[in-house]
This record gives sequence, structure tokens and C-alpha cells, in this order.
Amino acid sequence: MDSKDLEEEYKAIHQVLSAFHNYTKHTQYTLIEPKRKRYEALTARDKDLLSWFPGYITQIEAAVDSNQQFFNAMVNHVSTNWGIELEKIGFIETSASDYEKVKKCLKQCYREWSLEAQNERDISFHRTLDHLVFKYPDIRTRPNCKILIPGCGLGRQNFELIREGFQVQGNEFDYFMILISSFLVNDRLSKAAYQIHPFIHDGSHQRSRVSQFRPINIPDIDQIQQLSTLQRTFGNDADVMDLMSITTGSFIDLYGPNDKQIVESSYFTKSSGQFRDENKGKFDFVISSFFIDTACNYLEYLDTFSHCLKDNGEWINFGPLQWHFENSMENLDIRDGFGIPSTVPLSGLELSREDVLELTRNLFTFEALETGIKSPFASDDSCSSKFLYDCDFWIAKKK
Ligand SMILES: C[S@@+](CC[C@H](N)C(=O)[O-])C[C@H]1O[C@@H](n2cnc3c(N)ncnc32)[C@H](O)[C@@H]1O
Repeated sequence: MDSKDLEEEYKAIHQVLSAFHNYTKHTQYTLIEPKRKRYEALTARDKDLLSWFPGYITQIEAAVDSNQQFFNAMVNHVSTNWGIELEKIGFIETSASDYEKVKKCLKQCYREWSLEAQNERDISFHRTLDHLVFKYPDIRTRPNCKILIPGCGLGRQNFELIREGFQVQGNEFDYFMILISSFLVNDRLSKAAYQIHPFIHDGSHQRSRVSQFRPINIPDIDQIQQLSTLQRTFGNDADVMDLMSITTGSFIDLYGPNDKQIVESSYFTKSSGQFRDENKGKFDFVISSFFIDTACNYLEYLDTFSHCLKDNGEWINFGPLQWHFENSMENLDIRDGFGIPSTVPLSGLELSREDVLELTRNLFTFEALETGIKSPFASDDSCSSKFLYDCDFWIAKKK
């Protein structure tokens, strides 16, 4: 990475850390103040009828404080371990969209690292794990099995496979996710080290205030303890710490082919070209969970899955087709093979399941294909309206 890239990266991390730091300030402004003002504007009779309301606001403030304590611990961890001297540079203002991402992180912590969301995780993660364990029944052979998980979020699926002895590389490009997972995975947190309140920001479909305020303990497991157990199984044959790694950057930029005809600007950094070459045919399995619909061009993802898999390697996928860029108004700067730049919308290439399956068959052979699997995603299982995705699960062998 050259110094300009490093500076950009440093700026991005600074911005994300600031957003976590400013969480209370934004919540005061967007959630607490409107409630307080609405209550104050009520008639005496209505205030009387809602006499519990001021106490409710105080409860929200306490819950926000608890979320902030978690974020503060994470910010401290990252600034210490990543060498970011926040006391010197201070924090910067946060945009509304970054604040939305901070709130989304609370839900993602719930999905990946709480006991309450175990059932939700089991629907997708267990199908994958069962297949891998079936293929590698002897735990001692599993460290030789190289797995890549693009879009790994907060790294729970990585951990589920590592604790079974597999060698897993996670890939993620969003610093909101990367920084929290670095904290959750590397800070040696004990079980239930933090209490968060992910549902206080959702006013609709709540069954009760108690349910809305219920605390969620994270993480739900003691990772160090579990890895120690695995280390005892391996003895001196393998170091469990060597089983885990994470890369930061776009899946296509890091794992795709080097001879793409049309590229984004980030594709051209010197180090990423070398890294892409090293990743050619490297992995036995690539696992995607709620990931393929983050593509703005599914064909590029397909090429990338194929490029980084070994011959006969397998791609295991679980998820819906909720194309993330469908409603985006943003554009993408691209260059063609002659270096000629142009700008295209991020949206536009939203494909149906039928199309996705047909295109996939060009590069892969389906070994298993299941459709219509109902699954929630980071959803509050005790609220009175639940959204379930209609998901596909497949195991596809590289041709
Ligand atoms: C819907 S989340 C799924 C997270 C996790 N796999 C799970 O099942 O909970 C999709 C993740 O993919 C990441 N992502 C999206 N596009 C990506 C890309 N091009 N390269 C790497 N990560 C990406 C997002 O930041 C997000 O964390």
C-alpha cells in the first residue's frame, strides 16, 4: 500500500471511530429529544395518562449509555492496537448515514454474537458446517482445508469453522464491521462481557417496553477458552492461531482475476494485483452468507468465486437476492481495458433467481440446491412483526 492509500485508510478509520464515539450525541438528537418534546407538548390529562413516559425516556438514556460503553471500549481497543492517536487528532462530525451504520452494528452484534440469535444463525451456518464436517470427518486433517468467507461481517461464521479446526480467511470491506470484529475477536473478551440494547431504536411492532429494552449479552461464548480446547486436541501438530486471518478490502479487488476488462479504480493498486495473483486457485471452499446480493454486477462476483477456488473447489452459498444497490442513486467510476474512464450507476443489474442460477451454471456444477428456506436477518425475534427472507442454499463445484 502506498502512502496515499495509507492516508485514505487512516481517514476512513478515523471517520468510523468518530461515528461510534458520537453515538450518544446523535441518539439524543434523533431519538430522545423528539420524545421529550412530544411529551412536554401534551395536555395535563394526556401527561397524566402517560405518566410512565419520563421514566421511559430515562430508561432509553440508560440503554444508550450501555451501548456507548461497548462502543467506547471498542474505540479504545482499536486506537491502541491500530496505533491511532485519537487524543491528538480528536473526533470529527458524523453524517446521518454513518449514524445509521452504527445502529446497524448493534443489530449485527446481536445476530452474530448473542445467544438469543442462535436459531437465526443455525439456519445458515449449520448447513455449511454440516457439509464441511461430512467432507472432513477427521479434525486433524481440517487445518489443511483453506476456506475463504467474503463479506464476513463480524466474523462469527469464521469462528464457528475455526473452532472445528478449519483454516479460515475472512474478507470484509466495511470498517464499521472490521473494527467491531477486531474488538470482539482479538480483545480476549470473556462470555457476556458487554450488555447492549439493539432494539431501542425501533419504535414499531414492540410487544412491550420490557421487551424493547431487554439487554443482549455479547459475546455469547468465551473464544479463548474454546480455542484452548482446540489447541489441546491438536497438541503440537498445529497452532490454532494460524487458522484465522482477515483481509480488508473488496472481494473482487483482492480475490478476482487480474485480467478484467472493466475495472474500478481501487482494482489497480500494486499490492492488490499481486495479492490477486497469489489467490488464484488457493481455496478449497468459498462460503458466502447473505453476501451475493451485495454485488452491483453478479458476473464479477461469479468470476471472483471461480478465480480464487482450486480446481474442483466448492462454493457454498446461503442467502436471499435483496440486491443492495437496487435503490442506490450513486455512481461508480470505471475504466475500460484502454484506461478510458466512464461513470455508471451502481444500480441496474438486478437479476432474478432464475438468471442467477443459469449464469452460475456456466462456471459451476450444482451439487446441492435448496430454495425457499425462510430465514430472518438480525431481526428482533420478540417483536410482533417479523420479516423472513426466502433464501437459497447451494453447494456448487468449480468447473
Ligand atoms: C448482509 S452482510 C452479511 C454478513 C455475514 N456474512 C452474515 O451472514 O451475517 C454483508 C456483508 O458483506 C460486506 N460486503 C459487501 N460488499 C462487499 C465486498 N465487495 N467485499 C467485501 N465485503 C463486502 C458488508 O460490509 C457486510 O458486512
